[in-house]
Amino acid sequence: MSPALLDIHLTDGDADAALRADVRAGLTTIPKQLPPKWFYDARGSELFELITELPEYYPTRTERALLERSADAIAITSGADTIVELGSGSSAKTRLLLDAFGRAGSLRRYVPQDVSEAALRSAMDALSVEYPDLELHGVVGDFTSHLHRLPRGKHRMVAFLGGTIGNLLPAERAEFLDRLRAVLQPGEQLLLGTGLVIDEETLVRAYDDSAGVTAEFNRNVLRVLNRELRADFPVEEFTHRALWDAENEWIEMRLVAQRAITVTLAELGLEVRFAAGEEMRTEVSAKFRAPGVRAMLEEAGFTVTRTWTDPDDRFALTLATAT
Ligand code: SAH
Ligand code: TRP
Repeated sequence: MSPALLDIHLTDGDADAALRADVRAGLTTIPKQLPPKWFYDARGSELFELITELPEYYPTRTERALLERSADAIAITSGADTIVELGSGSSAKTRLLLDAFGRAGSLRRYVPQDVSEAALRSAMDALSVEYPDLELHGVVGDFTSHLHRLPRGKHRMVAFLGGTIGNLLPAERAEFLDRLRAVLQPGEQLLLGTGLVIDEETLVRAYDDSAGVTAEFNRNVLRVLNRELRADFPVEEFTHRALWDAENEWIEMRLVAQRAITVTLAELGLEVRFAAGEEMRTEVSAKFRAPGVRAMLEEAGFTVTRTWTDPDDRFALTLATAT
């Protein structure tokens, strides 16, 4: 077994500075908003894993079924020797790709990258036992700012699964794809998982489950702020709301103040007021249509090599090649 590498592109100090800047900007703008990457402390990553098992949360099991059917074709079409995965989390579904690329005989190395060091370390511990012959090179980093520091390779395929690209706003998404294209060599690939536009009821239920796990996940960002910025959010007085924005074609997650609340963030020397009923956006999860996926990829300098969708057209996996 070769020893696993772990690169830290995001130190605790960098993360702290970024959190402070994001929170100061987000809480002093109208309407208030917070970027989603701050959900994922150790507890947030655990809550996300619970979400993936909820009966209402169809994306994970749909994408897994899709990978079960298509991973061998993806591996043969790709031929990559390195899989880089952005926002890899527990790498649970990725094992289907690792197995298929292993069968195809091309795979040498797996590079999982995540902003959550806890999630990454626990995934790597398990993978190093399960895949003793695979070179593992973990990266703690932010896929919106650290792509240029990813390890190079002969032929990389960058996997970006789970519909996580939909958690970026349209301008952020375009910038992300431009930056990704810029660090790839012609011929290297992107395997992109996108949730598709489906009926509103199924969509909203996926982000507002009956057991309240998603609500707990959403409120977790307030616990992160309480701990990291010595804030005093009364966490239980914010309720979870998920709605479908038909114009933007995204699910929007919000936290709703149940009464007028004044919050002090001691580390920022900041006091913030919420009116009773005021809503703060904590995440969008955009859903796509096939032509939109193709257009955003082509705009960034990729060509679509092949697309796989599930029988109900809920999720797509698109293999695209840097031109
Ligand atoms: N790929 C997994 C996890 C999706 S959840 C799956 O499909 O199930 C989103 C993941 O992206 C989490 O693990 C989270 O920690 C990570 N993440 C969120 N924002 C990030 C960012 N800006 N940079 C790197 N990772 C990020
Ligand atoms: N990438 C996932 C998605 O958009 C992240 C996610 C799932 C999520 N459920 C959530 C984020 C609930 C915030 C709240 O589907």
